[in-house]
Amino acid sequence: VKSLIILGRQPSLGLAELESLFGADALVPIGREAVGVTIDAKDIPFQRLGGSIKLAKVLTRINSTKWRDIELYLSKSIPEHLSYLPVDGKLKLGLSAYDLRVRAQDINITGLRLKKIIKAKGRSVRVVPNKSSALNSAQVLHNQLTGELGWELIAVRDGDDTILAQTIAEQDIEAYAKRDQNRPMRDAKVGMLPPKLAQIIINLATGRVEETSNQKIENRILDPFCGTGVLLQEALLMGFDARGSDIDPRMIEYSTKNLAWLKDRYGLHGRDYQLHIGDATTFTWDAVKTVACETFLGKPLTSIAPSHVMNQIIKECDLIHEKFLRNIASQLVAGARLCLAVPAWRLNSSFLHLKTLDRLDDLGYTRLSFVHARNQDLIYHRPDQVVARELVVLEKK
Ligand SMILES: C[S@@+](CC[C@H](N)C(=O)[O-])C[C@H]1O[C@@H](n2cnc3c(N)ncnc32)[C@H](O)[C@@H]1O
Repeated sequence: VKSLIILGRQPSLGLAELESLFGADALVPIGREAVGVTIDAKDIPFQRLGGSIKLAKVLTRINSTKWRDIELYLSKSIPEHLSYLPVDGKLKLGLSAYDLRVRAQDINITGLRLKKIIKAKGRSVRVVPNKSSALNSAQVLHNQLTGELGWELIAVRDGDDTILAQTIAEQDIEAYAKRDQNRPMRDAKVGMLPPKLAQIIINLATGRVEETSNQKIENRILDPFCGTGVLLQEALLMGFDARGSDIDPRMIEYSTKNLAWLKDRYGLHGRDYQLHIGDATTFTWDAVKTVACETFLGKPLTSIAPSHVMNQIIKECDLIHEKFLRNIASQLVAGARLCLAVPAWRLNSSFLHLKTLDRLDDLGYTRLSFVHARNQDLIYHRPDQVVARELVVLEKK
């Protein structure tokens, strides 16, 4: 493998997203949080990935999983690499360990030892202290560890070996926050789709990058439940044309304002968008190829309701989903892909699912599955949430 990716909080989402874009053969999962990729790090469009938090290029494989051996390797190899740094300025060094038996305090001791070695070579250095065995993306970002004068070295256990890699990009949490929080129109009631989840949905919907032809319609994303337009915004930023519709005129007004703001702030780079008021269960869109959306999630809930109430809520959602899937099926060409984030309700450790998901075959769709992630794990949820979002990837038969 040439690159190493550290996955986000729900690793399966990141794995499915990567598999959708690069194919199963390009990926080698390593432990729970990391995945090796056969593609050169510089050819991975990292800022378009919502489910990955670090991208690193593989440096070497160490035939040990003992931290002592890893420290020894670093003590020897770091001095040899100092000459590649710009002549002036202070080096910033960070160390992260994944799946290795090492505590933050041991890593901090290694950091101090490496600092001494680097200083003895005449370079000034600041070592970022570890609060846990791995630095988070905010620490990598704020300490500029992927900048010219930064090094984040990550060690990941791979069986009896350790893979050593250097981070070249981290998830830009500030850029996400900026475009999420500064959007003029927000509505807590329709729920806030996090931009990184929007990216995951889009990447699952588009499939393999090289299979996407250059024809305009292939590069167009439709969101038939567009709400305030978060998914359309991310689609435009990722270089797709965007089409959105929503049953609620107020939502179309919000999306219109949000996308005008996006155009003004970020530019559209030749991409275009159109918005329509329309009921997804009856509307006719023009030339649809790829559908990516967060659908109607039903009544917001802060706790699970009694079962007869839950049944009613689920029934209402099922009706809309089934009608929508029937309506759009007749407008899709065979092979068209959809990724829908649909509601699933958390019951302790399991989930209540839409019944529509059992009827996909009859409705004319094949539900796609992944080699490296199980469909049952493709449910985005926060620990305190009752209504989760299940990611369903479909192909029109
Ligand atoms: C969970 S929200 C989607 C939020 C959206 N991702 C955003 O960025 O704001 C679901 C949306 O579906 C819309 N909706 C509900 N029923 C619909 C229907 N039958 N046809 C079209 N839109 C519908 C609602 O108005 C709401 O905006």
